[in-house]
Amino acid sequence: MLPEAVIASPRTAIRGGAIFYIDIALALNIGFSFLIRIQRKNGIYQINNQQGVLNMITRRMKGKDFISLMDYSREELETILEVAAYLKLQNAIGQPHELLKGKNLGMLFASPSTRTRLSFSTGIDQLGGNGQVYNPQELQLAHKETWKDTGEMISRFLDGFAIRLYNLKTQMGAETYEYGDARKVLRGLAETARIPIINMLDDKEHPCQIMGDILTMVEKFGVDYKKKKVVMGWAYDDRAKSPGVPQTMAIAGGILGMNITLAYPPEEGCYDIDPEYLAFAKKAAQALGGSITVENDIWKASEGADVIYCKSWARQPDVHAKKGPQYAEDWCISHKHFEKANPQAVYMHCLPAKRNKEVTDALIDDPAISIVNDEAENRLHAQKAIMALTM
Ligand code: CP
Repeated sequence: MLPEAVIASPRTAIRGGAIFYIDIALALNIGFSFLIRIQRKNGIYQINNQQGVLNMITRRMKGKDFISLMDYSREELETILEVAAYLKLQNAIGQPHELLKGKNLGMLFASPSTRTRLSFSTGIDQLGGNGQVYNPQELQLAHKETWKDTGEMISRFLDGFAIRLYNLKTQMGAETYEYGDARKVLRGLAETARIPIINMLDDKEHPCQIMGDILTMVEKFGVDYKKKKVVMGWAYDDRAKSPGVPQTMAIAGGILGMNITLAYPPEEGCYDIDPEYLAFAKKAAQALGGSITVENDIWKASEGADVIYCKSWARQPDVHAKKGPQYAEDWCISHKHFEKANPQAVYMHCLPAKRNKEVTDALIDDPAISIVNDEAENRLHAQKAIMALTM
């Protein structure tokens, strides 16, 4: 399906009885629109941006790390969304787009992954590049080669390096781990390496996920996505997961001027998001007329919601093990929560979801409400945009 935001203008040229080109005003309603031309040459469709708007921002982002959305402006995030939609459109009509031909992306996964691994691997392939996947045990990191030395090596052989790392104790065998240690590794790598470092989930953020999520909201709500009430909430699961998703959604919502309600049980230091992220998000939202609010009751948060996006996280696994179960019933998202939401509201989850703990089977499988699989697919398009713009 073509993106809903594509509006075809009637400008066409006829040559020899066949349509030679079609101009389309691509109005994504996320800042500005631009004109693209689809033309048929020698039986092959090509898409050209007629206004060159994207090029200005493209040049600025080349070589930039994609570690934290705090490092990105509204214009840059909107460019990623526009390029993602453009690449999705090219995919839809079978237009090759080998923008990274001959380039190599390294992907280091310190923990399992389905969506991130598949989407990055397919994405770099569709862009004409090559992907290499490894875990820390397959590199000399297993023998304690330093991150600094590893950073030098990746610069010598690769054009981009994507990394998933969020707990140095459980994933790297470190003696201790504190919140923020994984981020320090990513920042350290970025300091040494002369290629862009892409965050595939650390202990603070999951920026690739959130760009795919917002692309999905743009597709579902078009011009109105910034006005919608997005509930970014906690859900119960016994596993203590990274707070990367809610923290990134909060700052992305702030930078873009969205209306985000953060919902989590009242356990300070465990389920509330990092105060630095909350403060950044609130300040950024104020500047653009958006809002970031906090609600500790999921039933109240669901009232008037347009998106209910709830997943498990915990900043203190020990506290979570003791306190979490008391919230299991109320914070298992079901059709009852959607009875309080707006009629066209959608359910989102970054996946994998713990069925009948974080969400009921009936809800996540309800095609009228659940958009989790469209959301997952948009990881591909968003990450291709991130790679194409930064690598
Ligand atoms: N949402 C997400 O990051 O999925 P994976 O853990 O499967 O990559």
